[in-house]
Amino acid sequence: MASFARTASTALRAASRRAPRALASSATKAASYSLLTKAAVAKSAHCANPQGARGVKTLDFAGTKETVYERSDWPLAKLQDYFKNDTLALIGYGSQGHGQGLNARDNGLNVIVGVRKDGESWKQAMEDGWVPGENLFPIEEAINKGTIIMNLLSDAAQSQTWPKLAPLITKGKTLYFSHGFSVVYKEDTHVIPPTDVDVILVAPKGSGRTVRTLFKEGRGINSSIAIWQDVTGKAKEKAIALGVAVGSGYLYETTFEKEVYSDLYGERGVLMGGIQGLFLAQYQVLRKNGHSPSEAFNETVEEATQSLYPLIGAKGMDYMFNACSTTARRGALDWAPIFEKANVPIFEQLYESVKNGTETRKSLEFNGRSTYREDLNKELEVINNQEIWRAGKTVRSLRPDYKPESE
Ligand SMILES: NC(=O)c1ccc[n+]([C@@H]2O[C@H](COP(=O)([O-])OP(=O)(O)OC[C@H]3O[C@@H](n4cnc5c(N)ncnc54)[C@H](OP(=O)(O)O)[C@@H]3O)[C@@H](O)[C@H]2O)c1
Repeated sequence: MASFARTASTALRAASRRAPRALASSATKAASYSLLTKAAVAKSAHCANPQGARGVKTLDFAGTKETVYERSDWPLAKLQDYFKNDTLALIGYGSQGHGQGLNARDNGLNVIVGVRKDGESWKQAMEDGWVPGENLFPIEEAINKGTIIMNLLSDAAQSQTWPKLAPLITKGKTLYFSHGFSVVYKEDTHVIPPTDVDVILVAPKGSGRTVRTLFKEGRGINSSIAIWQDVTGKAKEKAIALGVAVGSGYLYETTFEKEVYSDLYGERGVLMGGIQGLFLAQYQVLRKNGHSPSEAFNETVEEATQSLYPLIGAKGMDYMFNACSTTARRGALDWAPIFEKANVPIFEQLYESVKNGTETRKSLEFNGRSTYREDLNKELEVINNQEIWRAGKTVRSLRPDYKPESE
C-alpha cells in the first residue's frame, strides 16, 4: 500500500506538472486520481465485473439501520464512463467550488467553472489553473454549456441571481446544490427550480478546504445526499456518483429539509455559536473570581482543544472521561445533566428559529448587503479583541510547534 501510494502520488505530481490546466485530457486522466480512488481502480482491474464490487452498506447506528453509499462502488473507470457525456458546470468558486471543482477535475471529469468576471473568484480560479474561454466562463455562459449545473454560489447570491439564471436551466440539465437552503426556504429565497429537471444535493460535512485536503490524502469526506425532484428516475444514482466525483468517501441519505435544518442548527449550536458562548461564560466567571487570563484560558480552551476534545473525536465521550482523574470524572458526571437541562430549552428555541425561517431571513438580509464582507469582519474583530482570545494568542505562542506567521 505504501509503495502504491508513492507511485500514485508521483504520477499525480507528474501529471499536474505536465498539464496543470487540462487534467481532464485523456493523456492525464489515468494518473490524476486521489490515492484511494486509484487503489479502487487497481482493485477493480482484477475483478470479473468491471463495474466494481458493491459498496452500499446498511449499518446499525445505535439501533437504527441506515444505508451508507461508498466510493468503492464507483471505481474511477465507472465514474468517468457514467459522466462521459456530461459537462459539470460549477457555478461559484468559493470554498466548496474550489474543493469540489478541483477534485472532480482531478477525477478526470469534464468540469467548467462559471463565476462573475470582475470578482475575486475569477482570479482565484485562474490561479488554480482554470483557463478563460477553455474551462472558465462568465456564469450564464457556463450554465449554457453545462449539463449538470452545480450551484455553489453563496446562499444569498443563489437567491439574488436566481431570476437571471433560472431560464437557462433547461430540460435535460440537472440542478445540483450543496445546501438545502435555497429550495427549502423558497418563500424567502424565491428559488423555485423548473419542474422538468432533476434537483439533487450533495452536502459535504466540512469546509471546501477539507474536501480538497482529504481527497488529496486519498481519503474522502462524509457527505449528505438528497433528492428534491426526480424527473428521470436516475436522480439518486446521479447524486451518489456526483458525491464521489467531488471527493466524498461515504454518502448518507437525507432530505433537503433535514439537511438544511440540521446544518443551520448545528453551526449556530455546538459547532460554532454554542461553543463560543460556553467558552466565554466559563472564562468570565473564572476572571471575576480572580483567576489570571492564562489560567482562565488554559482551563477553558487550551485543555479542551489540545487535550480532551481530540480524545472525544478519537474514541468517544466515555473514553475522554476515562482518561481523566476520578475527581474530574465524578464532578463532570454530576454537572453534565445540569448543563443538559439548562440548554435543552435554548436548543429547542434555536431549532424552531431554524425551522420557521427566522435564521434564513436574517442570513439573507445580512449576507445580501453589498457591505456584507466589511460588516462581518467588524463583528469578527470584536471576537478577536475579546480578552479570552487575546490571552489565547500568548498561550499559543508557547507551543513547541508555534509559527508566528500563523497568527
Ligand atoms: N463553506 C462550507 O463549509 C460549506 C459546507 C457545505 C456546504 N456549503 C454550501 O456550498 C455552497 C457554496 O458555499 P461556499 O462557502 O463555497 O461559497 P461562499 O463563500 O458562500 O460563496 C462564494 C461564491 O459566491 C459568489 N458570489 C457571491 N455573491 C455573488 C453575486 N452577487 N453574484 C455572483 N456571484 C456571487 C462569489 O463570487 P465572487 O468571488 O465573484 O464574489 C464566490 O464564487 C453554499 O450553498 C453553502 O451553504 C458550504
